[in-house]
Amino acid sequence: MAKPIKHLQTLVRQIEEPLPGVKRLVLADEDDWRLPAFKPGAHIDLHLGNGLVRTYSLCNDPSDCRRYVVAVKREEVGRGGSRHIHDVLRVGDSIGVSVPRGGLELLPQSMNVFIAGGIGVTPFISAILALEREGKANYILHWASAGEPSLIDMLGPALKAGRAHLYNTHTGNPPDIRAILQACGEDTKAFCCGPGRMLDAFEAAVAGWPEHRKHVERFVAPKIIPMSTDQPYEVVLAKSGRESVVLPEVGLLATLEAMGADVSVSCGGGICGACRTRWLEGPPIHRDRVLSPEEREHEVIVCVAGCSGRRLVLDL
Ligand code: FES
Repeated sequence: MAKPIKHLQTLVRQIEEPLPGVKRLVLADEDDWRLPAFKPGAHIDLHLGNGLVRTYSLCNDPSDCRRYVVAVKREEVGRGGSRHIHDVLRVGDSIGVSVPRGGLELLPQSMNVFIAGGIGVTPFISAILALEREGKANYILHWASAGEPSLIDMLGPALKAGRAHLYNTHTGNPPDIRAILQACGEDTKAFCCGPGRMLDAFEAAVAGWPEHRKHVERFVAPKIIPMSTDQPYEVVLAKSGRESVVLPEVGLLATLEAMGADVSVSCGGGICGACRTRWLEGPPIHRDRVLSPEEREHEVIVCVAGCSGRRLVLDL
């Protein structure tokens, strides 16, 4: 059975602007009930109205389930989600959020190295708050920002303990990612979240590392280019019996939307997991950065997937 798409209604309790261009939202149940639990660095989708769905990392301590805190940088040339949050959303507004998903698999005993660029620090703030609360010192943060860092007030203990290194790229050099990672022990796990150039440098530096020792967190979806070898295929929605043909130039997601399928979409680029769906017949061509090999045996990220057979049957 397809996972039900669960949303809950929250109220915007607080909006702060810790630095111009960055808004920090505190969302809570309207009666202050506990919200679903989350792991450090988990994401939620914000349902902003008019079908606008955007995914953000939670940046509060996971032990505090009475609120969800997200930080949003205004992107002038983005797709409109951050501008809506900055310009339209007000304290007291009701906002739909998904249940949290994903999160960072931290090493409980060995070293966790976080490398962040700008607002990409948010998933690591949540992880650091959790580690600090547990009295653990097995992490180090390297955080680059173009100018003053925006959420510095959330990292007091880490800064005081010398476990957070800041790099202002307006006045100095960015972190030397290769050198940082070369100095790591064999049992270290490295995490990176930031702009594309930083992620590329990180991926090059950890190319020879085993998968379980590295984690890349993307918030900008890579462009998916249809392959010239892609063939049309039939998509079938098992629950409603609806069928349609997916043309390579149209793609699966647009076809599903035209069929009125109930699929939640946020990034549209295979990085957030909002559109994961069970498949029954295929096989699909997986192009996401979300699912593990085991999950791919039953699920597919439909915003970027294709099909290598003649028929893709989805549990929708
Ligand atoms: S909408 Fe984000 S992975 Fe499909």
